[in-house]
Amino acid sequence: MKATSLLEKQHRKVESLFKQLESGRSDPAPVLAELANELAAHMAIEQETFYPAVQQIKEDVILESFEEHAIAELALKRLLSTSPDDLSFKARVTTLKELIQHHVEEEEKELFPAVEKAVDEKRLSELGRSMKAEFEQRLAEGYETLLPAGYKKTSADQASRAIHESHANGAARA
Ligand SMILES: [Fe+2]
Ligand SMILES: [Fe+2]
Repeated sequence: MKATSLLEKQHRKVESLFKQLESGRSDPAPVLAELANELAAHMAIEQETFYPAVQQIKEDVILESFEEHAIAELALKRLLSTSPDDLSFKARVTTLKELIQHHVEEEEKELFPAVEKAVDEKRLSELGRSMKAEFEQRLAEGYETLLPAGYKKTSADQASRAIHESHANGAARA
C-alpha cells in the first residue's frame, strides 16, 4: 500500500473513533485509550519516517504539521487527564477532533497530492510497507510510552475555573 494511502486509512480510523466517543453510546474510557494509541502511533510514524522522507517536497507544510502535532498532543494529554464525568470532557473531545480535522485536511489536500506527484509509486509503496510495520510496533508500545511526560496548566484552566465553580454551586443548589 502507498504510504499516503496507509496514512489516509489511519485518518479514517481515528475519525470513526471520534464519532464513537462523541455519540456517548459506549463506555468512553476504552474508546479514548484506543484513540490515544492510534493517534500517538500515527503521529510517531509521520514524525519519524514520513515527514523526513518528504520534507524536500513541501517543507513549509511539514514544519506546520510538526506544530499542529505538538498542539494536538497537548490537547490529547489534556483530554487523557480528564474524567468523562468532568463538565469539560465533551468540549475537550470536540476541540481535539477539530484540531485533528484541520490538520488531516491539510495533509490530504496539500501534502499528499504533492508527494504522490513527486515520488514514484514503487518508492511510495516501499515506504508504505516499512511505515505499516513501524505503526504496528508503535501501536503495541501504546500512547503512555509514546507521549513524553509533562503537562502544564494554562491560563485557560485558571480562567475557566469560575465557570466550573458556578456550575458546581448551581448543581448543589438544584
Ligand atoms: Fe500529521
Ligand atoms: Fe496524518
